[in-house]
Amino acid sequence: KEDSINKGVKNLAKMIKESEYTVVLTGAGMDTESNIPDFRGKDGWWENIDPIQVASIHTFESNYPLFHEFYSMRIKTLEGVEPHKGHYVLADLEKKGLIHSIATQNVSGLHQKAGSNNVYELHGNIRTIRCNHCNKEVKLEDFLAGENCSFCGKKALRPNVVLFGEALPIDVWIKAEEDIKKSQLLIIIGTSLEVYPVNFLPMYAKGKIVLINNEDINANYEFDIKLIGKAGEILKELEKYVE
Ligand code: APR
Repeated sequence: KEDSINKGVKNLAKMIKESEYTVVLTGAGMDTESNIPDFRGKDGWWENIDPIQVASIHTFESNYPLFHEFYSMRIKTLEGVEPHKGHYVLADLEKKGLIHSIATQNVSGLHQKAGSNNVYELHGNIRTIRCNHCNKEVKLEDFLAGENCSFCGKKALRPNVVLFGEALPIDVWIKAEEDIKKSQLLIIIGTSLEVYPVNFLPMYAKGKIVLINNEDINANYEFDIKLIGKAGEILKELEKYVE
């Protein structure tokens, strides 16, 4: 059921205060108010691009120029990007001991930039680059310049993001799964929950599940509260009710 925002926000604030173990799961909708496009929303990346064509390990191996062009563009869209109020509210809730951790699908690093410490990057990060052949870490500039690996010479540089067709970092996954299993409250923010296996994580939640999203999504579990609106605005409103 869709609550009126204010009533829903007050209910959420009450749940946060009552919960002894709150976990947050975020997606690209958490970053759009920082001018980073999402994927499946309006004007999202996948509106005109087939993700498998550009963001898969297959493309990395079979069409490096296309892979390199797409990720160079995504890295450039992150230049000068800053966290918005919503990121800071979540970081503040962690400082107050009111949320335990954030499991995110985002690769921007904005949660950490806003001061959140316990952040699980389930889809890796786009800020660091490694050679897919010798696994050495190289400078971002080398990747953007289209260089070969300065250690092994291969044309195999790539960001540390999880590509379609790759496994998620298992250590990060386990931490997120364990936290969500312990959670009395799971707050899901800005995700279509269309991508496996992250869209299975909420199934481990034993307590309440709350959705903050600017469109309703169909999930195979019930939400205790649905707040349909912009994450930044709703989190700003929430802050008033969580001392
Ligand atoms: N506030 C709240 N919700 C928002 C906002 C906003 N400001 N902006 C967008 N949204 C919603 C969109 O309506 C959509 O439902 O956030 C959701 C974003 O969904 P996706 O674009 O599918 O992003 P996400 O769920 O994170 O995608 C998962 O897919 O392509 C892969 O690896 C990529 O991590 C990504 C994964």
